[in-house]
Amino acid sequence: MHVNEAIVGRQSIREFDTSRDVSNEVIENILGVAGRSPSGSNIQPWKVWVVRDEAKEKISNACYERHMSGDLGEREYNYYPVNWREPYINRRRATGWGLYGVLGIKKEDKEKMQLQHGRNYTFFDAPVGMFFTIDRDMELGSWIDCGMFIQSLMLAARAEGLETCSQAAFCNYYDTVMQLLGAPDDQMLICGMSIGYAAGESVVNTFRTEREPVSTYTTFLTKPNQV
Ligand SMILES: Cc1cc2nc3c(=O)[nH]c(=O)nc-3n(C[C@H](O)[C@H](O)[C@H](O)COP(=O)(O)O)c2cc1C
Repeated sequence: MHVNEAIVGRQSIREFDTSRDVSNEVIENILGVAGRSPSGSNIQPWKVWVVRDEAKEKISNACYERHMSGDLGEREYNYYPVNWREPYINRRRATGWGLYGVLGIKKEDKEKMQLQHGRNYTFFDAPVGMFFTIDRDMELGSWIDCGMFIQSLMLAARAEGLETCSQAAFCNYYDTVMQLLGAPDDQMLICGMSIGYAAGESVVNTFRTEREPVSTYTTFLTKPNQV
């Protein structure tokens, strides 16, 4: 697969093929590829927890239950802005309503929204779940490194015919997740991920997000911008 195809063709998959498992050999292979990601001074600050079968189910059940009971949980770090503003509000809205739109879920249908959001906690039926953690005392730069690792992993997965969905949703119940992982207190949960083969026919997977044109986020300079 051409690297551009791996990047451009990637999309968050929210319905996986329940009839196809992913072997630990394949998982180890893509983790090895992702491990070649760069990091400042090559310190490789990422840690990965792979869950399947009973381990996955325990986390899944506990988080799903909390979510469905109306417990919003809390996050150990702010993934999103504390004070939302434009242009981010609009982009976020377009994504949320776009996703619910393809599923025919309307604004007032809170129950259906809760159920769809709850699918996060069943890993969208993926056979394998992953969690990424980082040593609590690491700085922002190491979080950047972990982001690169996670993207590399998603691309390496595609080379194996696998798809993914990164999930900050698990951070709401980080205490439950970390406890069931048996992760030590010096670890912080960055996010979770579902990984598997995409479901053959799936409405939710038809959802495609847009991107801003290059000109909106890039400045080309040939002369100093300020004198
Ligand atoms: C770190 C991270 C966390 C995310 N968390 C969630 C999540 O909890 N649930 C979900 O359905 N999608 C989640 N997403 C997927 C984003 O919504 C998605 O990447 C974005 O809308 C762009 O769409 P695309 O991945 O299909 O290109 C997450 C993405 C990232 C990078």
